[in-house]
Amino acid sequence: MMKGHQPSRPVLVALRGLGLGDLLTAVPALRALRRAFPEHRVALAAPAALAGLLPLIGAVDELLDVSGAGPVPCHAPDVAVNLHGAGPQSTAALLRTRPGRLLTHAHPLLPGTPGPPWDPGAHEVTRWCAMLGWHGVPADPADLSLTAPVSEVRGHVVVHPGAAYPARRWPPERFAEVVAALTRSGHRVLLTGGPAERPLAGEVAALARDRGATRTEVVAGRTDVAELAALVGAARLVICGDTGVAHLATALGTPSVVIFGPVSPALWGPSGRAAHIALWAGRSGDPHGDVPGEGLLEIGVADVLAAATGLLARAGEETDPVTVTLCEDGPLLVRGPFTIVTRDGRAVGPGRSTVALCRCGRSRVKPFCDGSHKAAGFRAPGEPAADA
Ligand code: FES
Repeated sequence: MMKGHQPSRPVLVALRGLGLGDLLTAVPALRALRRAFPEHRVALAAPAALAGLLPLIGAVDELLDVSGAGPVPCHAPDVAVNLHGAGPQSTAALLRTRPGRLLTHAHPLLPGTPGPPWDPGAHEVTRWCAMLGWHGVPADPADLSLTAPVSEVRGHVVVHPGAAYPARRWPPERFAEVVAALTRSGHRVLLTGGPAERPLAGEVAALARDRGATRTEVVAGRTDVAELAALVGAARLVICGDTGVAHLATALGTPSVVIFGPVSPALWGPSGRAAHIALWAGRSGDPHGDVPGEGLLEIGVADVLAAATGLLARAGEETDPVTVTLCEDGPLLVRGPFTIVTRDGRAVGPGRSTVALCRCGRSRVKPFCDGSHKAAGFRAPGEPAADA
């Protein structure tokens, strides 16, 4: 049972004490466990910062705050599942909970623990599904999708310049070139990241402004994981390195350009229902290195822009058109993937997919309608004829 908790149902605990992308690559395995153990209370041992994603995943009853390979605050679960790593630390941490049954990979230092051999060449999504399959739990690697939370903004481009290690961080100057080019083409860019990445996002924004960027906003450090998911889900495109946001784009079906460094996209690359482009120079190296990988630096601004503009053009063809409805004696109702900007190019809220624009001139919140037209008895001019 979990510490301080008296379960009425048998407990299954799954260990994945890692980051955002790691959790998202384990979603098919978690859903498979949910289906295979419908009577169990499923506890996920993972960092508390990821709790906001659990309602989107829909397979987990509870989060136990664990960062790293343990310890796991759970005693005598009916089933323990190692979705964390090859072992032995993670496997040993789960063995210390004294589970009734342990689903994990085999490890030579733990000969009494059955499981399939660890395959270092397996894609991270299929690895965990294959391990569960070996233990008799069928899992579908394509079962990755999440439904995005509602977003108040849409139609923007998310640029996420950070990554866990410098080896995977494309230079900020290059991100700035991309941001500037996108805003010159009329796109609104949101720079995302965690609290520790806010200075980096700010640096990219400042460099982009030096290059003529206008419609750029730094939201790094101001979103929790669910709000980040909403922004990614409502975006037309995500541009990022080999990091968790790339997996969020995959899960939410948002097109993405992912700039790979020392790790092949064959191991951690995107898949799924949306269009994704993985840029990789073909050079493997240390993913935890403290300088950008050589291959990462071989990917140029032109490469990223070519991929981005291609995906944006395709998304534009598939996007609903913007419509403007003349409300009788009232505002103009604008629907669709629009953005309202000032004369100098700054985006003006509220950024919803539908807004009412004042037509009477009496609103106190122009350009938006605040209902003043009713008190003013506004009468709109006659609507144009259909073929006028
Ligand atoms: S149209 Fe509503 S306040 Fe002007």
